[in-house]
Amino acid sequence: MDKTRDEDNTGNTNFARVTVVVPTYKEVLNLPHLIDRLAKVREENRLDLDVLIMDDNSQDGSVELITARPERWVQIVVRTTDRGLSPAVLDGMRRAQGDILVCMDADLSHPPERIPAMLTALSLGADFVVGSRYAHGGTTDDDWGFFRWLNSRVATLLARPFTNIQDPMSGFFALRRTTYQQARDLNPIGYKIGLELLVKCGCQNVLEVPIHFENRTRGESKLSLKEQLRYVQHIRRLYLHSYATFSEVGQFLVVGLTGAVVNLGLLTAGLTLGLERRTAVAGAILISMTSNFLLNRRFTFSYAKDGPLIPQYLQYVLSVSFGALANYVVTMGLLNRSPDLAPQAAAGAGIAVGTVLNFIAMKYLVFRRRHIRLRT
Ligand code: GDD
Ligand code: MN
Repeated sequence: MDKTRDEDNTGNTNFARVTVVVPTYKEVLNLPHLIDRLAKVREENRLDLDVLIMDDNSQDGSVELITARPERWVQIVVRTTDRGLSPAVLDGMRRAQGDILVCMDADLSHPPERIPAMLTALSLGADFVVGSRYAHGGTTDDDWGFFRWLNSRVATLLARPFTNIQDPMSGFFALRRTTYQQARDLNPIGYKIGLELLVKCGCQNVLEVPIHFENRTRGESKLSLKEQLRYVQHIRRLYLHSYATFSEVGQFLVVGLTGAVVNLGLLTAGLTLGLERRTAVAGAILISMTSNFLLNRRFTFSYAKDGPLIPQYLQYVLSVSFGALANYVVTMGLLNRSPDLAPQAAAGAGIAVGTVLNFIAMKYLVFRRRHIRLRT
């Protein structure tokens, strides 16, 4: 019988069964090649390996192809509800019978030949293994466009707070089923299901196995711009999950930054339109203050977003008017003292002083937790 070795949690050596989950949408051209290569890997390494193709009702002949093939270890599941790459992968992991779960794309970007190395990494004690383009020894096809490269790099940077591996965006990964079962509140948003699992399963020991990532030669990529925007949303949720305590300050600062942009933009516009200087400064403060309120209520202190808007706003205006006053005094003071100073520079200093005072006022007065009905 085909067996592979793995160590269970007690350190005993036992035999592991592997399930490879492959999400597909219109991949009929790639499936025969993928199965051929997996068959070779399975045979040469004497693996007890089965494949679960999770197809979102492609209706491109994939089902007919799989049923006509002799391999009993390949199954196809046709999904008609809850479509999408991540839901398909999670659905496959739920159904998988293997002790070890591998996830890979169908388009042959991920070399099946690296699966044995990934299994070895797991048996060496890793709890999550990534087939990595960027780890030492990993490569991508040269004709990767600049945009895709940059995009991938920026996305990786955003994930840095969760993991310091080189390729957290990879869709090629392996983990034990017991690790998968430890996942808490999985949220299959977007394309980065590997990152989601890595974070939500609480994986500590993550290893990268270098791969050569080959460009797709048949069929089309489904990664759209919309998916990439959803990634930012995904990252925000992961932040909230992992850094609940720090995320308040972080989000407040991001909101503050948008306030600064609004403030400086309006000030510049006001001055350009010929408004009196103090009117422009005061107007910019008032409007950016309001946009900050709305964004903080929606994001930073989102537990308060169902509270009464007007009373909250009045309380907010009252509390932070002290910060706004400080902002105004600092800005005008600097300007009066050194008339040659750029108004924007003076406003910057005013914003800095105002920001600190505003956070204190908001956290301890306006959105004070005991004033808010906590969600149960
Ligand atoms: N079931 C299902 N449903 N499968 C899907 C769907 C869907 O809505 N969308 C895409 N897939 C399948 C494809 O058929 C393919 O097997 C795999 O998911 C990857 O899709 P591609 O369209 O080839 O994605 P990509 O090459 O742009 O992105 C890959 O590389 C990224 C890193 O650059 C994926 O592996 C991403 O997860 C990875 O982040
Ligand atoms: Mn692809």
